[in-house]
Amino acid sequence: MRTKRLRRALVAGLAGLLAGAGLTALPGTAHAADTLASAAAAKGRYFGTAVAANHLGESAYVSTLNREFGSVTAENEMKWDATEPSRGNFTFGAGDRIVGHAQSRGMDVRGHTLVWHSQLPGWVSGLGANDLRSAMNNHITRVMQHYQGEIHSWDVVNEAFQDGGSGARRNSVFQNKLGDGWIEEAFRTARAADPNAKLCYNDYNTDGVNAKSNAVYNLVRDLKSRGVPIDCVGFQSHFNSASPVPSDYRANLQRFADLGVEVQITELDIEGSGSSQAASYARVVDACLAVSRCTGITVWGVTDKYSWRSGGTPLLFDGNYAKKPAYHSVLSALGGSGGGDDGGGDAGCSVSYTKTREWSDRFNGQVTVTAGSRPISGWTVTVTVTPPQKVSATWNGSPTWDSSGNVMTMRPNGNGNLSAGASTSFGFTVMKNGNSAAPVLGGCTAS
Ligand code: XIL
Repeated sequence: MRTKRLRRALVAGLAGLLAGAGLTALPGTAHAADTLASAAAAKGRYFGTAVAANHLGESAYVSTLNREFGSVTAENEMKWDATEPSRGNFTFGAGDRIVGHAQSRGMDVRGHTLVWHSQLPGWVSGLGANDLRSAMNNHITRVMQHYQGEIHSWDVVNEAFQDGGSGARRNSVFQNKLGDGWIEEAFRTARAADPNAKLCYNDYNTDGVNAKSNAVYNLVRDLKSRGVPIDCVGFQSHFNSASPVPSDYRANLQRFADLGVEVQITELDIEGSGSSQAASYARVVDACLAVSRCTGITVWGVTDKYSWRSGGTPLLFDGNYAKKPAYHSVLSALGGSGGGDDGGGDAGCSVSYTKTREWSDRFNGQVTVTAGSRPISGWTVTVTVTPPQKVSATWNGSPTWDSSGNVMTMRPNGNGNLSAGASTSFGFTVMKNGNSAAPVLGGCTAS
């Protein structure tokens, strides 16, 4: 914590000096909203990722992490099997490496997770009820005290409900031996161990309104009404074609927020590729931004190559750390711009989209490109359509296409020179082929 505050104070002081000298940007730093973290911060949110300690020696991994993310979650290093492999013997080395890295870069840390049926060392399952109760409380207390002051939110309890329609508690050693009250006890112990950390309940398949999320909702409402300390609910948000982003995702986040807790998107990944993956990611970001108590988003890994679902290529950077269409749509949904740094410390250009005409089989879209506070002599914008849509015509721009045919990269056609604050537009026709979804804009890059 001390390191982080010191670094922030130094950066603020340096910015003040530069402003006094008539300069607005730190030389060599990107402008404010061309990374996930800075664009999210401009909206009052954090944007984080899960991190594995054993990749912190890989330079491309670390440079992507450092550039784009403002919060980290240990992917495995703070789980019970990692932190207390045998009773009373605590090992914090790998978790500490992640926290140390985060602090050295001014990033926040989410704590994941204190009590979970999985990645639980065998010795816990063998305990009788009284022993189990004291082992659980001791584990919570020791781990939280070790990281006291370093964690903004802890997943105190993870995945305590069953899948399927029953809304019942999951069969776990905690449930079976301690009964329903174990969750409440875990949260009370956690508050006593670190009164400043936010305490979250975290689960999956609770992202839309369904029997499981209803059960979590009833739990949280009950805890709140009885004054049990709970501050936040985490929605893991692991999505794929069998479990897509639910249509009532925003409404579900909002009903939890209305109980008086923060909501956080804690483990986001969406299997797929190209424009449909990009559009799904944008919907998640839009939902969080629409809920004022949605305080941040964490994706479950930096690069597809290390994802726990690597076959599903579910993340924002591919195996070579290239930005995927999903990255651009997230940045754009956060209100950021696509990375064009004009050296002046502000966005080189920005883009907006409107649908100008629609017929039963097609619609026309228009993208307006606006220069920032300096003149520009060119711009690049990506427009991604949802298959089986196809772009059948374009005007006032020069398009190129990716191999899927869904991602159009548009550059000027005689309309690249824009004075500061001036705008130009290009247009295109999208054949719907049965799908009316709006195209997803990547950010604008100025040259
Ligand atoms: C996963 C990790 O990503 C894997 O490396 C590990 O082998 C298993 O756990 N829900 C959670 C996360 O809360 O802790 C899980 O992380 C993914 C599902």
